[in-house]
Amino acid sequence: MKALVLSGGSGTRLRPFSYSMPKQLIPIANKPVLAHVLDNIRALGVTEVGVVVGDRAAQISEVIGDGSSMGVRVTYIPQERPLGLAHCVALARPFLGDEDFVMYLGDNMLPEGIVPIAEEFTARRPDAQVVVHKVADPRAFGVAELDADGRVERLVEKPSRPRSDLALIGVYFFTPAIHRAVAAIEPSARGELEITDAIQLLVAEGRDVRGSVYGGYWKDTGRVEDVLECNRRLLETLRPYAAGEVDAHSEVTGPVVIEAGARIVRSRITGPAIVGAGSVVEGSDLGPGTSIGRDCVLRNTRLTDSIVLDGASIADLPGLHGSLIGRNASVGASARHRLVIGDHTRIEVAA
Ligand code: DAU
Repeated sequence: MKALVLSGGSGTRLRPFSYSMPKQLIPIANKPVLAHVLDNIRALGVTEVGVVVGDRAAQISEVIGDGSSMGVRVTYIPQERPLGLAHCVALARPFLGDEDFVMYLGDNMLPEGIVPIAEEFTARRPDAQVVVHKVADPRAFGVAELDADGRVERLVEKPSRPRSDLALIGVYFFTPAIHRAVAAIEPSARGELEITDAIQLLVAEGRDVRGSVYGGYWKDTGRVEDVLECNRRLLETLRPYAAGEVDAHSEVTGPVVIEAGARIVRSRITGPAIVGAGSVVEGSDLGPGTSIGRDCVLRNTRLTDSIVLDGASIADLPGLHGSLIGRNASVGASARHRLVIGDHTRIEVAA
């Protein structure tokens, strides 16, 4: 079996971050979402991975490289414009050949992994198998209707009146039967070739299409709130260690990772939290759910439930919460509000 990871797209809901980095590289617990995805694929024993990339290809290959550091072999498949998930399958045909494959959307987090679901696919080998998860409001997703035996009866992309609460969560297992279906569909109302429509075509033809319910934690990291929630959740599962320096005036409680070369000075850190290599935290109070990237500087700051990307600095802010601070950004205090902010940035100042 091969894998196809989709890592193109535009990421408009993650502006302004998506202006400078692809959303699949946003770090969750200090590791890009895409690296979490590749971990889950390698756990299946799948090592041949095609990665579809758009105009951020250079940044993605800088981080992922040829995949060898993650135990996989990556082939990049360029996509000129985000014309849809089924378009990606068509583009990848030369890479996929006639093999079965798992398709994985590069912005979806399934931290509990997909090994049992892959085993179901291999054992029964239906024509296609989708992974679904119960959600409160399925209108923003592909929605599946299953019969009592787990057979898919109908699939609809982002229905305004969903007939089930089972959302497609970005992982699909396919046999080569999908290629003919992909070639037969037309673009949807949003102008994309929808994989949901291609699978629905298989269902309509009476092919064996199955749905497996993933019961673990799942997040589509398309919005800032989702990124922060997922970060907190993943931090809770980290194995704590302190390779960096913690001075005698600091207090570290709960599960906390302090990477090599980080320095904690006169500070309090309450886990789950992580401080990246080379960062300095001084006179500060870091609360649960906080990830600090590499080479950051935090002084006299209180910060909870937030992600600070590499090279950022924060000083003299006593109450930051639920924040996502971009690479090399600088945040500080002054007597009056003064803002130098980029396009589509969101700021909430305590009134
Ligand atoms: O997150 C789960 C949902 O993902 C499913 O429930 C939907 O059925 C499925 O269509 C998809 O919906 P989204 O609207 O959230 O897809 P998005 O545009 O965010 O793209 C998903 C991933 O695929 C993302 O990593 C970008 C990449 N992509 C997307 C398109 C449209 C590509 O690489 N190329 C593309 O042409």
